[in-house]
Amino acid sequence: MAHRLAAQARADLDEIWTYIARESGSETIADRLINSVTNRFHLLSNHPHLGRARARKTSVVACEASRLARTSSSTGWQAPTFGFCALCTAAAIWSRCSAVSRGRTTNLGALPIAAFGRIIVPNLENSPMNAPRNTQYRYLETHKIAGALGADVEGIDLSQDLPDDVLAEIRAALLDNLVILFRNQKITPQQQLNFARRWGEIHLHPFMQGMADHPEILEIIKTPQDKKNFGGSWHTDQMFSPQPAMGTMLYALEVPSAGGDTMFTNQYLAYESLSDGMKAMIADLKTVCVGDNGKQHGGQSRAQRYDRQMAHMKVKEPGNVQTTSVHPLVRTHPETGRKALYIGGHVQHFDGMTDEESEPLIAFLKQHSTRPEFTVRVRWETGTLTFWDNRCTQHFAINDYPAETRIMHRITVRGDTPF
Ligand code: SIN
Repeated sequence: MAHRLAAQARADLDEIWTYIARESGSETIADRLINSVTNRFHLLSNHPHLGRARARKTSVVACEASRLARTSSSTGWQAPTFGFCALCTAAAIWSRCSAVSRGRTTNLGALPIAAFGRIIVPNLENSPMNAPRNTQYRYLETHKIAGALGADVEGIDLSQDLPDDVLAEIRAALLDNLVILFRNQKITPQQQLNFARRWGEIHLHPFMQGMADHPEILEIIKTPQDKKNFGGSWHTDQMFSPQPAMGTMLYALEVPSAGGDTMFTNQYLAYESLSDGMKAMIADLKTVCVGDNGKQHGGQSRAQRYDRQMAHMKVKEPGNVQTTSVHPLVRTHPETGRKALYIGGHVQHFDGMTDEESEPLIAFLKQHSTRPEFTVRVRWETGTLTFWDNRCTQHFAINDYPAETRIMHRITVRGDTPF
């Protein structure tokens, strides 16, 4: 049965590749889509007894993805649309194979339509979706480092100019694992920048000065003289911006002999594990996110705090750059279509409510979203580059190395407006 399913799914993929290459006029786009789907297909091969539960989960994903794709104003082959297409296609293949495994056949002609996000799937029950995480790729290997999120990625040299299809696999690994680690990298600031630029526009930090010769790179330094560390509370990067960072790449140049780890938490799981009642209550809430939140720091500005406690971090004035923004508390990931809790240290209060009214629920959600079972703890080594998706994670840099030095190079890539 597994062999038959595999053969059928391969034939489906070939047909979809031809269709997408013809419609989009680009074999690269077809390759990227099929790569993404193939990764999911490997999971199928490993699960010959694909059951109703998986088909139902994928149908829910397909529903959400197709809804977003259909309501998207973009008609071009933009990245989010591509992501939805990949999901719909994967979902359709899974559904088809599931149907085959139950002795029914489906219409092969429906698959290319599904690939364009036009599939109509019945709205099935709302079950938590801990999406499957890939373990097989063509150009890289991933090894999970925790149950909730995080994977080591092997087979990639970030000093090289990576081909598009390798980058597509890194994207798939990021979307599946949320936080990916590349160990033993030897890269210059320029090479880190080259890699970051492949993901989009660089997001300059409005409050922090970049390196003199590479303003896009923020040098994070903590020495034994510094009492505090940069990023030492749960947060997601630049949440105070109207278009917060999609991803962050942090490269370790010098790390303490022990300590200085960074924790990450999976915000899909944080959302999915809430009760239906809580999900309904928070569905339309918006948060006001503030970049320089003196209220939370005894009235002190960033410049005052950093000057006293993190002397090596260079603060700057944001000028006209917007540093307070309103965002949905529950956001939809533009590439996976999954919902995630979007909360962190920059949240001041709910839009339209006072601080006091907002505080109890914000406190609960912050505590809930960082439950130990949603987290991973990254142990750094010199040469580790960690790339995380800020759209579905929070992170926390642990300040537990008072007598040692830690030096990192950080680049953030601009994201889109959360919805
Ligand atoms: C950050 O919040 O971007 C810094 C994380 C770290 O230094 O581990």
